[in-house]
Amino acid sequence: MISKPKGTYDLIGQDAKKINYINNVLAAMCQNYNYEFIRTPVFEASEVFHRGVGEGSDIVRKETYDFKDRGKRDITLRPEGTAGVVRSYIENKMYGRDIQPVKLYYNEMMYRYERPQAGRYREFHQFGVEVLGCDDPFVDAEVISLAYNIFQTLGLKNIRVNINSLGDQESRDNYRQALTNHFAQDIKNMCPDCQERLKKNPLRILDCKVDQDKEIMKNAPQTIDYLNEESKKRFTKLQEYLDLLDIEYVVNPKIVRGLDYYNHTVFEIEILNEEFGAQNVLGGGGRYNGLVEMLDGPQTPGIGFAMGMERILLALDVEEVHLPIDNPLDVYIGYVNDEEKDTALYLVQDLRLNGFRVETEYLNRSLKSQFKTADKLKSRYVIILNSNDIKEFKVKLRDNQTKEEEMVKINDLVDYLDMHI
Ligand code: HAM
Repeated sequence: MISKPKGTYDLIGQDAKKINYINNVLAAMCQNYNYEFIRTPVFEASEVFHRGVGEGSDIVRKETYDFKDRGKRDITLRPEGTAGVVRSYIENKMYGRDIQPVKLYYNEMMYRYERPQAGRYREFHQFGVEVLGCDDPFVDAEVISLAYNIFQTLGLKNIRVNINSLGDQESRDNYRQALTNHFAQDIKNMCPDCQERLKKNPLRILDCKVDQDKEIMKNAPQTIDYLNEESKKRFTKLQEYLDLLDIEYVVNPKIVRGLDYYNHTVFEIEILNEEFGAQNVLGGGGRYNGLVEMLDGPQTPGIGFAMGMERILLALDVEEVHLPIDNPLDVYIGYVNDEEKDTALYLVQDLRLNGFRVETEYLNRSLKSQFKTADKLKSRYVIILNSNDIKEFKVKLRDNQTKEEEMVKINDLVDYLDMHI
């Protein structure tokens, strides 16, 4: 038997139904927030992600699926949505549109060569949004509120929004220097990865899983202490907006995010439930005012977030949230002989095209088995076709709850069902 590759999964059964349901909720919410659907390629020229996400990030250093295609081009499977969306924004000159900012959402599979565990896959599904062309914390508040309201709408209650600010370039440079000075004191006793990070990107040392319990980590400098006046003002304004929206959040100076493109606002939404494993961050995002320029576009501010759909499924499970996914069938149409079968074929199509959820028999099984199937599918009505009734253009309709039966003219069937379902 051929098995699926490590770190992947088949989306089937109840989980598939849940994802379908969630996708519909997400699309409806994005419509209300006026975000536009975008789909970019699964693979891009490697530089989109290597430059975009950052050579210093763990994602690019260890996790991207990089390969040469048959034309010897350097290709990378997308590890996240933002850089590809920004590439598309630039290539399609969306900065020239008359309606600004450009507000986009995506719902796609992503690829990272990670060590698989519960809630962490090599092929995983992200929903995300990106807003390009607005630098006002007003829009930061909107993006955070959209993320927060998605979780609320899905019925997840024990969630916490953590926010932080990395500040503008000047603040980031000052902070970087402070971190370098701090960790340089004892870098010899830290892991080889951290030793490299100190040179390339000291911010990443804060994500280190190996050294995380060391004293030097605990008393590391915090971003907020290095914000200049302008960055501080902006961060305060964001908090005022979140208060106004009644969104509960905590300022968590530990949130620095694993991708290099962020500045100013960063945030993560976690689920607070002890049953949840290590991967309790359901989504995260932040502002990336330099990314469009870094990918050769005009200076354009941006902000967005993404959430992991597998983790949302896990969260719904541990929180025992039951999504309304088991929609019963409206009508089951059964038959025995060939003449009845012809009518079934026609009638099933007719009712389906009129908006009803209809199932029929495919394997020429006995009436008894057909009744059983109708029960298993929780069909509201059952029609068992009969040659004599058909000649009179009628069908016998059985209400599967009350077990009452009624003869209905075939021509009146749609109206009858419309009135009763
Ligand atoms: P990220 O924090 O790398 O951010 O990923 C966002 C979410 O994707 C995570 O919070 C997690 O739920 C999910 N996720 C990440 N890796 C995995 C994995 N291996 N398996 C399952 N789920 C995973 C980004 O990707 C940024 N592009 C977000 C963003 C958008 N920032 C600005 N705009």
